[in-house]
Amino acid sequence: MNRTVLGILVSGRGSNLQAILDAILAERLKAKIGVVISDNPDAPALKRVAGFDITTTVIERRKFADKRSFEKAIAAELQLHHVELVLLAGFMRILGGEFISQFPGRIMNIHPALLPAFPGLDAQAQAVKYGVKVSGCTIHFVDEGVDTGPIILQEAVPVLDGDDEHALAERILHVEHKLYPRAVGLFCEGRLRIEGRKVIISEKR
Ligand code: GRF
Repeated sequence: MNRTVLGILVSGRGSNLQAILDAILAERLKAKIGVVISDNPDAPALKRVAGFDITTTVIERRKFADKRSFEKAIAAELQLHHVELVLLAGFMRILGGEFISQFPGRIMNIHPALLPAFPGLDAQAQAVKYGVKVSGCTIHFVDEGVDTGPIILQEAVPVLDGDDEHALAERILHVEHKLYPRAVGLFCEGRLRIEGRKVIISEKR
């Protein structure tokens, strides 16, 4: 089976990038990282792939006159590396419609809450503040809204009485690192089909 070429967009720590890389190295994921793009030159994520013969590129928003030309540069870099699936892995920017339409049904994001609850920034803090008893993690396809695209996988974790946002984030992160490689694997195996708002997962052939 051919390896699906991934383009991974990051801004920070890169623990989800690491989880994807680990799954590939362990042959749990039949994929290949074509390029890692960061909008932040100091992102620790960039160091995680050093020494693995993986191209990394820094594309900073401030070097472009507007959002459109910034996103065009990202899209060009992804095309250059023949990327088939784009993964947002802690990428701290909202992508515009023009960018998204170039990769229809081929951009995934990970969000640290059970969407549609607590979209946007600081989802774990929102959950703690609200007082929910259960939160979790969502992998979804990206559309033009903020964390609104069709949901691929979700997994719940309990919110405990003593939790602050850091304790909850830690518990959710553990699940994130399992769930993102699993969703990518389903895509690579051709098992995901988008029907309106629903993502249908077909049985393994
Ligand atoms: C994760 O919690 C992810 O759900 C959210 O941003 C965080 C990124 O963490 N979108 P990392 O950079 O992958 O460690």
